[in-house]
Amino acid sequence: MCYVIFKQAEIILCLTVAYFNCSSAAAVHSLHRHCIATQGTCFLKNIQFLMVDDITVYYYKSGSSEDPTVPAWLNHTEGLELWKQVSLNLKFNRHVMDTAVRLTAEHFNHSDDHTYQAHGHCELNPDGTSRSFMSHAYDGTDFVSFDVERKSWVAVVPQAVFYKQRRESDIQDLHRLIAHYESGCINWLKKLLEYSISVRKTKVPEVKLIDRKPVASAIEVTCHVTGFYPREVHVEWLGADELPLTEGVISGEVLPNGDGTYQLRKILTVPEGQGAQSYSCQVTHSSVPENITVSWAPARAHLYGIIPGFLCIALVLMVLAIFVFKKRRAAG
Ligand SMILES: *[C@@H]1O[C@H](CO)[C@@H](O)[C@H](O)[C@H]1NC(C)=O
Ligand SMILES: *[C@@H]1O[C@H](CO)[C@@H](O)[C@H](O)[C@H]1NC(C)=O
Ligand SMILES: *[C@@H]1O[C@H](CO)[C@@H](O)[C@H](O)[C@H]1NC(C)=O
Repeated sequence: MCYVIFKQAEIILCLTVAYFNCSSAAAVHSLHRHCIATQGTCFLKNIQFLMVDDITVYYYKSGSSEDPTVPAWLNHTEGLELWKQVSLNLKFNRHVMDTAVRLTAEHFNHSDDHTYQAHGHCELNPDGTSRSFMSHAYDGTDFVSFDVERKSWVAVVPQAVFYKQRRESDIQDLHRLIAHYESGCINWLKKLLEYSISVRKTKVPEVKLIDRKPVASAIEVTCHVTGFYPREVHVEWLGADELPLTEGVISGEVLPNGDGTYQLRKILTVPEGQGAQSYSCQVTHSSVPENITVSWAPARAHLYGIIPGFLCIALVLMVLAIFVFKKRRAAG
């Protein structure tokens, strides 16, 4: 299933599909950490979250008096041990973030509202290899990053050199970062993957087609794909030649249903009077080995209406003809 040969124009799409098809057997898993600190009059000073694949492990927002509570799936002896490490690490990180936004704003001589963001990420490949990455942005622009292989900070803009030097001068801080991005992050990821198995159960998408006529000249057919997990899904509207349609197709975004599953809508607009040409909505998802395909064709109600109509008239005429013929014979 990993080999897909398509026309040139569809190479990108093809690569994506190949990736999904391959990943259904063995997926790349990731741990993302996002931390945001603001300074100035902003109501929120800190936001932090930690996610394993698309499951939130930890979510903190300043202003709430309580610390985040452990998710139910981590509420057991080993899970709580990990939770303690995660909580301590992220709590410490809030001070790092507050310092970063304060120092950078001072450096730029900024006094009004500014934001500092950090994004840490590590991923585990099916073959056991891994990689990790960390970068910071100031007011939404890349500022510094951490080169895990070289064990050093990189200033993305000249104004960030001061921050790189400051972080590197703290040897203990440097060792802490190296340890986290060389092995700590992946160890967390492996444990979190193990503990979250029950929440990460794959769920098969349900596919429904809904048609409506928003204007006289066209029919809108919505392919509603819902209730699936994981989030990655590939939905195509196929034409008569079984090739994906690009024109007249509007794709929505993958949205959470709120129960751990996702949904996606893809709308096809069919001009009226295209005859009986049929279309199909094809869904590729890791929970099913084969694609799910649901077909749609314009209703032929009027066509069915016309043919019996003609038959009816023909029958009446025939009966009439026989009647008239017999009457004439009787008279004659
Ligand atoms: C964790 O489990 C204990 C019982 O084992 C329960 O009392 C507690 O409320 C649970 N905490 C959360 C946050 O679910
Ligand atoms: C910083 O801002 C203040 C007030 O706007 C200004 O007086 C001062 O010259 C600025 N300093 C630098 C280094 O830009
Ligand atoms: C499933 O759908 C993908 C994407 O449209 C396609 O490339 C693949 O050939 C399909 N597989 C089967 C078995 O039809």
